[in-house]
Amino acid sequence: MATLWHGRFEGGSSEALQALNDSLRFDLRMFREDIAGSRAHVQMLAEVGLLDAGERDEILAALDTVEDEIAGGSFDFAVNDEDIHTAVERRVTELAPAGAKMHTGRSRNDQVVTDVRLWTRGAIDEVVELVGNLQRTLLARAESAGDAFLPGYTHLQQAQPVALAHHLLAHGWALDRDVERLGEARARVDVSALGAGALAGSSLPLDPTKTAEFLGFGAVFENSLDAVGDRDFVAETLFALALLGVHLSRIGEELILWASTEFGFVELDDGFSTGSSMMPQKKNPDIAELARGKAGRLIGNLTGLLATMKGLPLTYNKDLQEDKEPLFDAVDTVRLTLLALDGMVASTTFCTERMAEAASSPYAAATDLAEWLVARGVPFRKAHAVVGELVRRALAGEGELIALVGASAELGPEAAALLEPGVSVTRRTTVGGGSPVAVARQLERFRARIDG
Ligand code: ARG
Repeated sequence: MATLWHGRFEGGSSEALQALNDSLRFDLRMFREDIAGSRAHVQMLAEVGLLDAGERDEILAALDTVEDEIAGGSFDFAVNDEDIHTAVERRVTELAPAGAKMHTGRSRNDQVVTDVRLWTRGAIDEVVELVGNLQRTLLARAESAGDAFLPGYTHLQQAQPVALAHHLLAHGWALDRDVERLGEARARVDVSALGAGALAGSSLPLDPTKTAEFLGFGAVFENSLDAVGDRDFVAETLFALALLGVHLSRIGEELILWASTEFGFVELDDGFSTGSSMMPQKKNPDIAELARGKAGRLIGNLTGLLATMKGLPLTYNKDLQEDKEPLFDAVDTVRLTLLALDGMVASTTFCTERMAEAASSPYAAATDLAEWLVARGVPFRKAHAVVGELVRRALAGEGELIALVGASAELGPEAAALLEPGVSVTRRTTVGGGSPVAVARQLERFRARIDG
């Protein structure tokens, strides 16, 4: 079986070359994009007079057959099908004599990058949809959380009580930025490279705008050298996926903490937790741990590709074949993680009594006491010191904080009432704040954001 370049070569390829060089095993999954690209190219060739209508239709029919064969599993791959482009073209040529004209004015260099762009565009749309599902789940859980509250943390130390809905939406807003980022990356993915040829364009009267239109691309390349050598769009997509993965890892980490006996803030659903092969009492948050762990792999995919791209001379170099595996892996990883985490968030039981109990330490309301004094004209630094002194005395065993506050000359019984369980959380009503009243407005904005 001849290679694509058999004209200039006398000997065949070594086995070692084929083993390293061939990419069919992973680029096969772009067969639909590759065939779509060929359809567009062939239609354009006919429009500019490089194919007649009969040749065009013959090739288009062969492309339909090839698509069915690959999709149906009956496609017979040959040893020399080094990548998906080679395989499709070889088969089209077997099915249609005009197939030998299909590669007119095209190189695998502009072909492959166009395929990857098409594939990435579809993948981004799919990931955005899955992120939307997780956001809707977080919103639903936030809406049904009502006035439930828990301690908010800094340094993993109890800081100030916040509504549970507030906490859940915090993750929702981070995901909102991920959706935005993926959309921005998508705009730069959505550029056709077909017509760039091997690197320099063509002496034939090609019309890259037409091919781009057939494929529904938003723009056409400006510079053929850049078009075949650029993988920025893959790196950007990998960055957006890595940061999304980092956000998912933070949700995962929180569920892990909350499911611990020490926190006891959630009870995981059986369907989304695992047991131990040895310890019968265990219920483990494996999904959340994998959500946490997969972030490392996503970051690795990004840094791996950046390292591959660094210092590459213009234009196409075979190094760039290394773009696909990290991209496919990142999309697969994010897809599975989103699906599992979504199910986990949806099915987890919130132990709101336990949360409220943890958030009801009077010390968590210390800032409210200082702000109560500020509202009465005391400079904040002074107020901070007054309350700090009472906290110190309570911790030293001089009495309950609430009693010391009630007896204090500066504070007194009205201020002491702020330390009653469930009061502090209602106090931070400023825009974007953690009280249920403020969160009600935030819920509306979040809903409008994800519905829009
Ligand atoms: N399989 C190659 C890739 O993924 C296709 C482009 C090959 N181009 C070439 N000049 N050898 O990058």
